[in-house]
Amino acid sequence: MTVAPDFQFQNGVLHAESVPLTKLAQEFGTPLYVYSRKALNDAWESYRQAAGQRNVLICYGMKANSNLAVLNEFKNLGAGFDIVSGGELARVLAIGGDPSKIVFSGVGKQVWEMRAALKAGVKCFNVESEAELVRLAEVAGQAGVVADVSLRVNPDVDALTHPYISTGLKENKFGIAIEAALATYQRAASLPSLRVVGVDCHIGSQITEVGPYLDALEKLLALIETLAQQGVHIRHLDLGGGIGIRYTDETPLSPKVLLDQVFERLQARDLGHLQIVLEPGRSLVGNAGVLLTTVEYLKHSTAKNFAVVDAAMNDLIRPTLYDAWHSIEAVEPRGQSARKYDIVGPICESGDWLARDRMLALQQGDLLAIMSAGAYAFTMASQYNTRPRAAEVMVDGEHYHVVRPREPLHSLFASETLLPETK
Ligand code: LLP
Repeated sequence: MTVAPDFQFQNGVLHAESVPLTKLAQEFGTPLYVYSRKALNDAWESYRQAAGQRNVLICYGMKANSNLAVLNEFKNLGAGFDIVSGGELARVLAIGGDPSKIVFSGVGKQVWEMRAALKAGVKCFNVESEAELVRLAEVAGQAGVVADVSLRVNPDVDALTHPYISTGLKENKFGIAIEAALATYQRAASLPSLRVVGVDCHIGSQITEVGPYLDALEKLLALIETLAQQGVHIRHLDLGGGIGIRYTDETPLSPKVLLDQVFERLQARDLGHLQIVLEPGRSLVGNAGVLLTTVEYLKHSTAKNFAVVDAAMNDLIRPTLYDAWHSIEAVEPRGQSARKYDIVGPICESGDWLARDRMLALQQGDLLAIMSAGAYAFTMASQYNTRPRAAEVMVDGEHYHVVRPREPLHSLFASETLLPETK
């Protein structure tokens, strides 16, 4: 059993749904991202079932994987989108996503991005500072429209996750401190080109416990009640994303457990009219993808064994950036003479590693699958060392589709120009 239900062994070969990964590697080369359409659908279904008949809007946190095929699949399933840039907005518009289901998050929104979002007619701006509030009011005023806003409140709770992906603590750059929220809401309510519609938070990522969400929720519900007493009536509460996935042996929080507890607390406080918005990214796509890579060389020494593979930190930066663990599966396991290997890429940096100290039986030319690479893998990829970004393939049952070809080498520098000759 692997960590991802839709990537399992059949007759000794790892498959994506019904397609052997060896076949895809042969046809498209490696490194190669392979996604499972069924996994996307199943992950969506767990949110849909968790929501049931309740008033819940799931806005896919598309920074996790913004390939148009992935976005389109979620759009067709009924998703809204959580965007953090004008670029992400453009992607959603390119697949005909419904702007009235878009929430616009992010700590540094620029004027052009605000204009584009207002023009599109997004559901809500999640505003992260008083300065942003003032800018948005100006931009909306100039455009002659009213912008719907939530304030992203920083509830000062510990999400119990990696410090780089923990966002709800006082010392993080995100949101408006909960103590300052009331005053900022008053300011927002006083600006004629803004309409206060929501309260928002996002406390971190890869969260596996419900506790931090409930701590944040209690603080936000108290805020919503106080706002109501002051005549500011909130329509929706956005609890952000953050639900974790299984990379190794984690037991992730299920959307149902989260939503059941949230709605229980809403009923208890007579706030059942609130719409709940969630912005899940990783939990919708993380285990819907793997990164395939080929072993180029083996280097054995007394100190360490290295498997040098053709994928690198430019394809998957999570291990070196967050010390993240991704399971490694041999696509056709040999089952004999395993040794402890560091799996490293060809990039000229000691930080270019993908996994450490893994027991594997390997030979040159073997195909490996780096698991749980559906989220924050391709979207964080770069072209460092002039390495083209790898192709992305979506498997659907026994069929498969290239949803982004490998970048042609020449395209990496085709738009660069030389300086004029010096005289
Ligand atoms: N909403 C907001 C405002 C966010 O900042 C994020 C993620 C999400 C939603 C989606 O969170 P998720 O459900 O995926 O946890 N690159 C890191 C993760 C960074 C998350 C940034 N914000 C990683 O690879 O672990």
